[in-house]
Amino acid sequence: MEVLSVASEAYPLIKTGGLADVVGALPSALAPHGVSMRVLLPGYPKVMAALESGRDVHGFESFFGGSARLLAGRAGGLDVIALDAPHLFDRPGNPYVGPNGNDWPDNAMRFAALSFAAYQLANGVVEGYVPELLHCHDWQAGLAPAYVRYNAPVAAKTVLTVHNIAFQGVFGWDQFPALRLDYRAADENAIEFFGNMSFLKAGLHSADAITTVSPTYAHEIRTAAYGMGFEGLLQSRADSVFGILNGIDTTAWNPAEDAALPQRYTVSTLAGRGASRQALSTRFGLSPADGPIFSVVSRLTWQKGLDMLLPLCDRLVEQGASLVVLGSGEAALESGFAAAAARHPGRIGVEIGYDEELSHLIQAGSDAILIPSRFEPCGLTQLYGLRYGCIPVVSRVGGLADTVIDANEAAIEAGVSTGVVFSPATEEAFEEAIRRTIELFHRPKVWHKMQRRGMKSDVSWEASAEKYANLYASVLGLNENVDPDR
Ligand code: ADP
Ligand code: GLC
Repeated sequence: MEVLSVASEAYPLIKTGGLADVVGALPSALAPHGVSMRVLLPGYPKVMAALESGRDVHGFESFFGGSARLLAGRAGGLDVIALDAPHLFDRPGNPYVGPNGNDWPDNAMRFAALSFAAYQLANGVVEGYVPELLHCHDWQAGLAPAYVRYNAPVAAKTVLTVHNIAFQGVFGWDQFPALRLDYRAADENAIEFFGNMSFLKAGLHSADAITTVSPTYAHEIRTAAYGMGFEGLLQSRADSVFGILNGIDTTAWNPAEDAALPQRYTVSTLAGRGASRQALSTRFGLSPADGPIFSVVSRLTWQKGLDMLLPLCDRLVEQGASLVVLGSGEAALESGFAAAAARHPGRIGVEIGYDEELSHLIQAGSDAILIPSRFEPCGLTQLYGLRYGCIPVVSRVGGLADTVIDANEAAIEAGVSTGVVFSPATEEAFEEAIRRTIELFHRPKVWHKMQRRGMKSDVSWEASAEKYANLYASVLGLNENVDPDR
């Protein structure tokens, strides 16, 4: 099956969050299942630099405000096709926001262009390469299924994966004429969304199949509490909505071979985590007491619930625990954590920023990672935690609920617990979960068993890659059996 993955980021070329990890990991995970996958990406400076020896495979003369071309080649271990359109993508910094922190004003054009390029590839503009299926990720690729459905017909089928329904690609109608989307899509059943246009809605309406990144989130987004305005549409398409859990790249995330760690370790040499714990303490200037080192590696936004951690910082320290935070995002959260660190030098350390290598050291050197999300489509940091013997403390939502088993006494007794799970996602329940985690940390036998169980649990892409391959085959009419795991 010849599949073109269409996305706005892909690890290791360009990453702002979990979307990149997933897009970067899928091609090699799917290869053993008969899927040949290329990735269509915007030609950001980082992508163009990695694609130095790429082949020019197609030129567009006038393409959303300038000339553009498609460049194909290997980059970062992926078969990449870059949309080289300097007027849209040759800009410094973040893929979505400018230096002033605001969205780039022409985001509608930038990602319409990406989606239109995917449609053109499906149309056969590159000789010898015609994808049979477009696998589109999030709103940035949401228009691709709509072009396929409403513009001049092409044979390609489409799958849209929702990584986060909170990001909806909403723009004003004034931009519609420039999208090059057939006017029949200018309809309340297609792109119209509460008086505006939504690229995500266009995709959800048009795609042959919709997936999201965990079975629980697939249910949640059909409810008013989590659907963010799309619950009705998703209910009406319920037969085409599938929840397929993310895996992680177990090569990039492997404590037995991780170059970012001062000492590597495995499930049978767990004590080797000590060197990372020491290095982490030095890096953050901690002199931990006898309690656990908690950690946060996250975007600092409302979704992640970390505002609920701020008022708990003092209590956590009183109970003998320490905390390291790596993240960036909302100013109030950044300054709130900086203030907590200033109040508790030696016990709370904070680094505002984005640091891939440090995120590995944190998973290896801290004892428990805190993920109190209000909603979480899948979440990857709890999976890295499991893999690294770092106990995840999570709210029971979305993919967090699907991947962590709470250490209540029955689960401890049965030998199945892998972390601490709390519900609802409130400050009170979170506080209780932190208290429970500290208690568990002081039961070393139970704690070490949990660490080992987590490290042995399957967080790879294996099972989910097969589900995607089956779904592609069914959308392409090659098999009847779609996994019922919706
Ligand atoms: P989301 O995509 O919603 O941000 P995920 O848990 O799916 O959440 O993925 C987040 C990814 O980004 C993980 O790979 C995580 O390690 C990484 N990450 C988040 N913040 C940082 C940071 N400040 N520095 C390094 N990596 C980070
Ligand atoms: C989104 C979600 C996160 C998910 C990631 C990859 O960013 O917020 O939960 O893990 O996409 O699918």
